[in-house]
Amino acid sequence: MAKERGHWASRFGFILAAAGSAVGLGNIWKFPYITGENGGGWFVLIYLGCIALIGLPIMMAEVLIGRSSQLSPVGAFRKFTHGGSPWMGVGWLGVLAAFVILSYYSIVAGWAMHYTWLSISTGFTEMESDAISATFGSVYANPWINIGWHGAFMAITIAIVAKGVRGGIELASRILMPVLFILLLILLIYSTTRDGFGEAFKFIFMPDSTKLSGASVLEALGHSFFTLSLGMGAMITYGSYLHKKEDLVSASITIAFLDTAVALLACLVLFPIIFTVGMDPAAGPGLVFVSIPIAFSQMTGGALLAPLFFLLLTFAALTSAISLLEVAVSYFVDEIKIPRLVATIMTGFVIFIFGIPSALSGGTALFGSGFADMTQSIFGEGDGKNWFDLFDYLASNWMLPLGGLGIAVFVAWRMGDAAREEGFKTSSQLGKLYWWWVFLLRYIVPIGVLAVFLHAIGII
Ligand code: PFF
Repeated sequence: MAKERGHWASRFGFILAAAGSAVGLGNIWKFPYITGENGGGWFVLIYLGCIALIGLPIMMAEVLIGRSSQLSPVGAFRKFTHGGSPWMGVGWLGVLAAFVILSYYSIVAGWAMHYTWLSISTGFTEMESDAISATFGSVYANPWINIGWHGAFMAITIAIVAKGVRGGIELASRILMPVLFILLLILLIYSTTRDGFGEAFKFIFMPDSTKLSGASVLEALGHSFFTLSLGMGAMITYGSYLHKKEDLVSASITIAFLDTAVALLACLVLFPIIFTVGMDPAAGPGLVFVSIPIAFSQMTGGALLAPLFFLLLTFAALTSAISLLEVAVSYFVDEIKIPRLVATIMTGFVIFIFGIPSALSGGTALFGSGFADMTQSIFGEGDGKNWFDLFDYLASNWMLPLGGLGIAVFVAWRMGDAAREEGFKTSSQLGKLYWWWVFLLRYIVPIGVLAVFLHAIGII
């Protein structure tokens, strides 16, 4: 099987694709809004700690499993454990997580597409801030807009994954990712001139918040998995397309660094605008869709930059969605031996159907009193989560950390010393870090993740 497997054109190709998977809606849409909800400061600091001490070691572990086995997650665990082992459950959990995450991720990507269209067709230039805020509410509540764009986004994702991931997407990421980065820098310059910049800076970087709770720590941990695409085998899958002699240590550090830079940059762009116009930083999922159009509506050239921004956000979402779908598809192709085209269409279609309840979560139009109320009363009890929120919560706060824990424990305790050490040190100039890495995987990751879990369910 290893011989049939395609490989990245170069190490750079892998870094690009993996960074394309990591950098997505998690960085520009989700991180700023959960930072807002959790009061900034402490939350950002805990998140950075989770990236460095937990996320990064797990990323190295995932790439190592993929690169050494040259197989997708379930097959990789089978190969290392000689079959039938419960460790394969970690691979299956990842496939399930791919279904859950992509089903609502695609709704948000649909908003980005819709906003691209809105900023081209009507434009935000003539609009007052209040009207721009109200637009998001009406988009979220409109079932047809949500389902329509969700379908369109899934169709594009399916079309690309069906053809194989390299070629098109590697090329697209190579051009689009740097453009996104430059556009964020331009916006940063604009944001530094806003009155709210000082307040925003303090909000993001000064840990003096009182909003922090155990749930915030769980969320910071969960998000560090989500943003780096960890805990569900995406990096195992991408690592399996890497040649065995490539250095995984510096590649992982580069990916984590780029991802973190984009997330912090997004906060530094959004919060000054939010504080300047007096929006609530805890406004939730609409944050980027309100603050960015407001900024552009007041900026010369905004009419041109607004569609560009949302288009790039759509592309960032696409490179991540591709990796999500690829995890599920590679399972059906490698394990169940379904042809790639059939597997992709089938999986994509099921995810589309799975996403419909999320598409209806903000609305009241379709079922009179509202599907939103119904899902809230079924699942929400205390904190009133709708379907969309629930899927996001379950996947990022529970499934990914659990999967990540499994991967860390597997590599640290179950994989042989020789294979692990050789894998880490191959071609790497950072081989000296080996014992640090093993220490983090053996002790810090399991203790950290378990402590956060136990706290979340009220045991400690
Ligand atoms: N890392 C992506 C983001 O931050 O938007 C989301 C994601 C992609 C999560 C792929 C998990 C995954 F396997």
